[in-house]
Amino acid sequence: WNYHITRFVTSAPDIRHLPPDTGTEVAFAGRSNAGKSSALNTLTNQKSLARTSKTPGRTQLINLFEVTEGKRLVDLPGYGYAEVPEEMKLKWQRALGEYLEKRACLRGLVVLMDIRHPMKDLDQQMIEWAVDSKIPVLVLLTKADKLASGARKSQLNKVREAALAFMGDVQIEMFSSLKKIGVDQLRVKLDSWFEA
Ligand code: GTP
Ligand code: MG
Repeated sequence: WNYHITRFVTSAPDIRHLPPDTGTEVAFAGRSNAGKSSALNTLTNQKSLARTSKTPGRTQLINLFEVTEGKRLVDLPGYGYAEVPEEMKLKWQRALGEYLEKRACLRGLVVLMDIRHPMKDLDQQMIEWAVDSKIPVLVLLTKADKLASGARKSQLNKVREAALAFMGDVQIEMFSSLKKIGVDQLRVKLDSWFEA
């Protein structure tokens, strides 16, 4: 599919405000500031399709983008950010949990983690949930440009080994929006999910 022609559809505070639950959706999930919105912009080759920010907690709604009719990408609010008011956190978590549990057209989950701080508890929970729910997962270790190539590779191998031990066969790749690393792997994976 040509991801460059992706366009924004809507932002919703919860799943009741989303368009009908038909077609196929692939969602981008991860801790606040992991680089979800940036990855969407890199994939689609658009500077500001999804809003990015230095401040964690930028994406507060479920944002939907359409690649082509019936094929959508979803930018989810980040989890694990301590600095937001408790009430807001509960609201996002509810929206996120509901989306993951109830959205039948969800066919794939891209879980993004900063390569320097991967596999925190909430990341593991997210992946375990997806594996249990038979939702295929691609893990992207983001901001790979922040590490030298040796450190990058050893971090990737470490995460792959840890993942194998506790969650089986989950594909894990390096990614950088800045240096365009891992974009092809992401595209190939999305193509396979949208095709199925
Ligand atoms: P929330 O919406 O708050 O959950 O964050 P997010 O996961 O959408 O992160 P976002 O894409 O907004 O990026 C957060 C910060 O990381 C921004 O300052 C980005 O410029 C930076 N960033 C994202 N990707 C990369 C990358 O590949 N390399 C580097 N060096 N910085 C990146
Ligand atoms: Mg975001």
